[in-house]
Amino acid sequence: MEILVENVSQIFGAAPHQVVALDHVTHRFPSQKVTCILGPSGCGKSTLTQIIGGIEPCSAGQITIGDGRAGLGSQSVMMWQSLNLFPWRSVVENVAFGLEVAGVSKAERTEKGKKLLASVGLRGFHDHYPRQLSGGMRQRVALARALILERPILLMDEPFAALDAQTKIVMQEELIRIYEASKQTILFVTHAIDEAILLGDEIVVMTARPGRIKDVITVDLPRPRSQELVGTPEFGKLYKYILHLIREEVQNAMAQEDLAVAAS
Ligand SMILES: Nc1ncnc2c1ncn2[C@@H]1O[C@H](COP(=O)(O)OP(=O)(O)O)[C@@H](O)[C@H]1O
Ligand SMILES: [Mg+2]
Repeated sequence: MEILVENVSQIFGAAPHQVVALDHVTHRFPSQKVTCILGPSGCGKSTLTQIIGGIEPCSAGQITIGDGRAGLGSQSVMMWQSLNLFPWRSVVENVAFGLEVAGVSKAERTEKGKKLLASVGLRGFHDHYPRQLSGGMRQRVALARALILERPILLMDEPFAALDAQTKIVMQEELIRIYEASKQTILFVTHAIDEAILLGDEIVVMTARPGRIKDVITVDLPRPRSQELVGTPEFGKLYKYILHLIREEVQNAMAQEDLAVAAS
């Protein structure tokens, strides 16, 4: 399901302390593709994702989901770095929470929850509690909790940023596998260039604040992908190109901070 973002701006606070987080952002996120949103910290990546997910309204502009008949948020599910699992609920009760809210019977949601847990490599862990799991396993629970809703759009805001390097690699490959099977429309926010190239069909590079779109890069690397891709010349070429773009933006962001400090 495609997402059309037109002239979206987001301004926080009132003058003279206004923060322009997004400035006339326009992009068509293609249906059933993975688009990575890449940019320096504070450039508005989370803000854009929250607006698309219907979690916060925008100051100006328009978002159209699919043919425009569906309301914002109704077709998507969000996944963050902080998992917000309920510590007092078992793993399967966490995964099935969305179905419980939707009024699905206990037997049905437990069965579905167990199936999804198996599909993310957690067969047999349904009766555990979040505290009994490793960070990577908890991340899988959060992924299963998002997938159980079977929404056509998956919004992921730096979901793997807090994981150790090895677990992150495993989770990235897990996501690639899930995507190949489900072909959802995925928006994946990251500040890691290698992650963006590995996962994305397309990379939207944002500028430092105010967040605008600096460049859109098509990633033409074959699927299904795996970590082996990282060593190839094609990967290296893309990495170098994007690094150059990002370096400019990080320098701009640092210059802005220097100005702010000088003015205060
Ligand atoms: N609710 C808010 N109120 C005021 N400023 C905010 C709010 N949310 C985000 N911002 C500011 O908007 C800018 C973009 O934030 P964010 O979207 O979180 O960036 P990113 O996810 O790219 O790191 C930042 O300068 C941030 O401080
Ligand atoms: Mg963010």
